[in-house]
Amino acid sequence: MSIQNENDLIALRKIGRIVAQCLQFMGSKLEPGITTLELDQLGQAFLEKHGAKSAPRLVYNFPGTTCISVNEEAAHGIPGAKKLCAGDLVNIDVSAELEGYFADTGGSFIIPPESNLKKNLCLATKRALDLALAVARAGQPLNSIGRAIETEALRNKLTVIENLGSHGVGRWLHEEPDFIPGYYDPDDKRVLKENQVITIEPFLSTGAREVFDAGDGWTLATAKKYLTAQYEHTLVVTKGQPLIMTLPG
Ligand code: CO
Ligand code: CO
Repeated sequence: MSIQNENDLIALRKIGRIVAQCLQFMGSKLEPGITTLELDQLGQAFLEKHGAKSAPRLVYNFPGTTCISVNEEAAHGIPGAKKLCAGDLVNIDVSAELEGYFADTGGSFIIPPESNLKKNLCLATKRALDLALAVARAGQPLNSIGRAIETEALRNKLTVIENLGSHGVGRWLHEEPDFIPGYYDPDDKRVLKENQVITIEPFLSTGAREVFDAGDGWTLATAKKYLTAQYEHTLVVTKGQPLIMTLPG
């Protein structure tokens, strides 16, 4: 969507804050022994308390409230009976709707103890998000986002998952532009527009360049058990720094 007025911005900030707080809350509940279903139910209760609806359930009939992806799983993991363990890398992606507006956020967490590999992967992916946010301005080529993400991946000897990307959001979970690559595509001539609402969500990996359907129709995982991290914000493009909608505070 494109922000048309103050009301759009207020409504988007409202749902943005709810999903950000939900992600933070779920992250605080990570501990060995909790199942991904129990974690998801905590997220469901949080969203309900704020009157928000799970976007993946609403839009895609996803069998869960949030997507919880563990270790070699990169995205769209179905909450279930899997018990989390010490050392697990856990990605939680929270997207929800309130009053017709959608916001989308995500983050990766390590249940202690943290291996250096997982810690570096998470730090680099978070940095890739920050660097991409810093170049996302109106009038800039859309591919400057992928360029920033890929540069940071290469600097850390990590790979970019090429078949997962950022996207438009706001009045629906996935809108135009429907796929913003996490790598530099010189042939992509699209330009960022003022007031455009998009996500930025780098997916960096310890070696994988693509994810595959893990067999349940939803979960996307890497081959050879490569690890993947993702951090995601929903933002409004401006002539200056973007307005980040998915902040918890
Ligand atoms: Co998301
Ligand atoms: Co997204």
